[in-house]
Amino acid sequence: METATYNYKVVRQFAIMTIVWGIVGMSVGVFIAAELAWPWLNFDIPYLAFGRLRPLHTNAVIFAFGGCALFATSYYVVQRTCHTRLISDKLAAVTFWGWQLVILLAAVSFPLGITQSREYAELEWPIDLLIAVIWVTYAIVFFGTIAKRKTPHIYVANWFYGAFIITIAILHIFNNLAVPVEWTGMKSYSAFSGAQDAMLQWWYGHNAVGFFLTAGFLGMMYYFVPKQANRPVYSYRLSIVHFWALIFTYIWAGPHHLHYTALPDWAQSLGMVMSLILLAPSWGGMINGIMTLSGAWEKLRSDPVLRFLIVAISFYGMSTFEGPMMAIKTVNSLSHYTDWTIGHVHSGALGWVAMISMGSLYYLIPRVFGRELYSLKLVEWHFWAATIGVVLYISAMWVSGIMQGLMWRAVNADGTLTYSFVESVVAMHPFYVTRFVGGALFLTGTLIMAYNVLMTVTGAKYSNVKDSIPEPALAH
Ligand code: HEM
Ligand code: HEM
Repeated sequence: METATYNYKVVRQFAIMTIVWGIVGMSVGVFIAAELAWPWLNFDIPYLAFGRLRPLHTNAVIFAFGGCALFATSYYVVQRTCHTRLISDKLAAVTFWGWQLVILLAAVSFPLGITQSREYAELEWPIDLLIAVIWVTYAIVFFGTIAKRKTPHIYVANWFYGAFIITIAILHIFNNLAVPVEWTGMKSYSAFSGAQDAMLQWWYGHNAVGFFLTAGFLGMMYYFVPKQANRPVYSYRLSIVHFWALIFTYIWAGPHHLHYTALPDWAQSLGMVMSLILLAPSWGGMINGIMTLSGAWEKLRSDPVLRFLIVAISFYGMSTFEGPMMAIKTVNSLSHYTDWTIGHVHSGALGWVAMISMGSLYYLIPRVFGRELYSLKLVEWHFWAATIGVVLYISAMWVSGIMQGLMWRAVNADGTLTYSFVESVVAMHPFYVTRFVGGALFLTGTLIMAYNVLMTVTGAKYSNVKDSIPEPALAH
């Protein structure tokens, strides 16, 4: 009888593309960071304008880099924890090729200036329809695999991946409801208007953070941290409380993006309170992740992969402390419109999202390619380049952001403004250069990873691919 195996092909494809798109997205990030420091770098070419490249950056890092990491790890985790092969190899391949097509269409349409101008959902309606089809296919593959699982239990990582898949489908469909207005072009207008439209956009935007940039990556944390540390999750009960509390609370916090706007005051206050409450489940999850290492702390000294994972969780803790503070209306009156927000974004995006993905890929790639990792020393180098890069990036943005906020609100005794806007722009310059250096360092780390992975997958050090499916344990 032929032994049943896991589908590692699609995992390998998504894993490699995570690194490719990571390099592309971060390179665009470094370039737009340079444009902010030295604006002449757009060379007056419209395709290189900051306004066109910025959405290219955000979409490339969130949906191409982050998205491929989520596909790769969710397909790996769901098979391993359910002791079964993906329900359909063909549908899994559709998600891979379809997702790459969406990314290519984004890479072409943004520099051409084709956008519906909704943040993190800039793609026009025909591409949105394609995304909807691929996402439904993804849901069929993921939940279909769960349905045919050989284990009685659904491991907690799958709950997080599952919530991410369902919620993103709902958010995507409602946020993108639009009326096309041309026969030959792609232009469309939102089906909503005014304050309702703003609320809908930030219901989407905040939950894109909560479910795309958080829930799915928490799924990674719950699988790869215990695996790499070789310890059980600190508290399985806490992980369940964490799950329900997080998904219940996140969905209400969107209005904190619309403080002091035309949104009704009560809705702003509700968003603020729910954001403060969100600190509790976020930190519950962080503590659960970090404490998984209790009794094995010494592993951090010798294992750079584990260090990636644990530092990522620490950044998660930091950004989910900072977020609720920024959601307090009086704090937001200083932070909003400033680089403080950009610092917060990247402590989550680089520190948490990128580092947990990289740690997980260092675990996963040798296993799905059946080779040993080429060099742990290079992982160590990558770790330090990434960590120093994030710290430079976010500390520059904190200083720049708070300085901007204070300069803008400073008034003289006679009520006139102390500083003109351009004075604040001049003052920001050194911090923009520092952010560029931090970003370039982070990108260098990713290039080191790409080299290490290339040497791993083409290397001669074979160990067998363990893709045969073991019998599930009878008890946990
Ligand atoms: C080498 C690494 C990176 C660099 C140098 C970089 C640089 C930048 C720059 C210069 C901006 C525009 C800031 C502004 O408008 O003032 C930006 C925005 C943004 N980046 Fe990055 N980035 C990097 C990596 C990432 C990653 C990995 C993610 C997500 C996983 C990410 C997510 C975002 C988001 C969401 C925004 C929009 C923020 C907002 O609108 O408030 N970035 N980035
Ligand atoms: C408890 C968790 C969190 C809360 C309560 C929170 C709260 C906030 C607040 C108040 C803002 C500023 C809104 C504004 O003034 O415009 C913000 C912006 C942002 N946060 Fe968070 N945050 C949290 C966690 C995270 C994490 C973990 C990430 C990334 C992985 C993240 C990504 C972002 C992004 C991308 C923006 C910028 C949105 C934009 O204006 O384009 N946040 N967050």
